[in-house]
Amino acid sequence: MTLIIAALDVDSIKKQEDLLKALHGTIVWYKVGLQLFTAHGKRAVDAVQRHGGKVFLDLKLHDIPQTAARAVREAQKLGVDAVSLHLLGGAAMLRAAAEIMPRPKLWGVTVLTSMGPKDVRIFSASAKIPSLVKSLAKLGWVGGADATICSPREVVLLKKAFPHLDMKFVTPGIRSKDAALDDQRRVMTPGEAARLGVDFIVIGRPITQAADPRKAALDILAEMKAAAPRSLDKE
Ligand code: C5P
Repeated sequence: MTLIIAALDVDSIKKQEDLLKALHGTIVWYKVGLQLFTAHGKRAVDAVQRHGGKVFLDLKLHDIPQTAARAVREAQKLGVDAVSLHLLGGAAMLRAAAEIMPRPKLWGVTVLTSMGPKDVRIFSASAKIPSLVKSLAKLGWVGGADATICSPREVVLLKKAFPHLDMKFVTPGIRSKDAALDDQRRVMTPGEAARLGVDFIVIGRPITQAADPRKAALDILAEMKAAAPRSLDKE
């Protein structure tokens, strides 16, 4: 079953609260990311928890092993349910983070969904998104990441590359048909992502900037349900 994580990319607790109220009863998981956490820290996490929501703290940690691991320990104290790390931080960083116990789920970012084929040439002239995503996802699995963050477009590739691994997938880069792409590049519709059996889709602006965020969320849920009737019926 595919769950929605609504990305609360706003600048104030008031706007966050308004969204949490509007979305109450439709969405359980919320992303507190760089903007909201930099602005309001623990208050932003507390607000989601007060509304009964689960928190994905999307800080995309990328640092030396000890610093990243200590940040994971602090995330645990905040009581968040998942925290993200950049898999480019390497195996030692991931292992150090994974050794923290108890800890939130660790979700590893492969290649940002805003990056296209030309962007990854910063790594080497011949770098290709699929092979980078594959190597980073493998590194994440081996190092103890609980899920892979990638574009839904890469899920089939990863499932085929690692058929024996029970890899979980968290996919941003979600846009309904005809919706604005904003800065996203490697996108798919909510229905297509659900059909692929991804575990979570992370979706922000199509909900948070909609005239009616609740209706936007319900429309996305309906699209997912229509696309994946079997898995949703199992609930
Ligand atoms: O507004 P939009 O739906 O594009 O938001 C997607 C969210 O997912 C953003 O909060 C962004 O930080 C996050 N994200 C992403 N690509 C990744 C990892 C996280 O877009 N690879």
